[in-house]
Amino acid sequence: MSSESFSKVINLDLKNFTMTPATRKREVRLSELKDYFSDPAAANKILSSGRDPVVYEYYEYVVDESAGHLSLGLTIIYPGKVGKEYFMTRGHFHLKPAAEFYYGIRGRGMLLIQSEDGRAEYVELRPGVIGYVPPGWGHRTINTGRGKFVFFFAYPSDAGHDYGIVKEKGFAKIVIEEKGKPKVVDNPKYVSSTI
Ligand code: F6R
Ligand code: ZN
Repeated sequence: MSSESFSKVINLDLKNFTMTPATRKREVRLSELKDYFSDPAAANKILSSGRDPVVYEYYEYVVDESAGHLSLGLTIIYPGKVGKEYFMTRGHFHLKPAAEFYYGIRGRGMLLIQSEDGRAEYVELRPGVIGYVPPGWGHRTINTGRGKFVFFFAYPSDAGHDYGIVKEKGFAKIVIEEKGKPKVVDNPKYVSSTI
């Protein structure tokens, strides 16, 4: 059993969008993510202009890694697009079938969820709205607004992360801007076959 004290204050700074304490803070730039977008040539065009913007960052506080605990965090996705596709997270499945929730704090976004057999759904997130990821479903979030999209999340600490399925197959849907508005469309690069 952990000897850690659990009676500590976990502070979400809703002005500067930081979380303290955090066991991890990560920034993900476009150069790391370019192959996840449906138009890598558009990503290369941004990168070859000498820019490598931060697409998103997140804070995570793993209270305790053992089963039964929760990990808590705050994600900030910056506004931007690669071609027509909005800035988004890499996306993943959990290694164990664990649920997760996202609570919208600032801006506009979408939570895309997808079952392992390719059933896809989405929830529009805005401040005060909760998005629910069912156990076993992959998830990715997208900033569909003009400012930062910020949300709080919590999930079981022993869930683990599998980034391989999304890297190989992508998501069945992507979110693009059309006539100035977000639109969820089929991903032309999605690999649906399990053979
Ligand atoms: C944790 C979770 C989120 C994401 C974060 C970054 O299980 O779903 O906290 O980790 O929004 O996204 P990824 O992990 O896909 O880079
Ligand atoms: Zn997750």
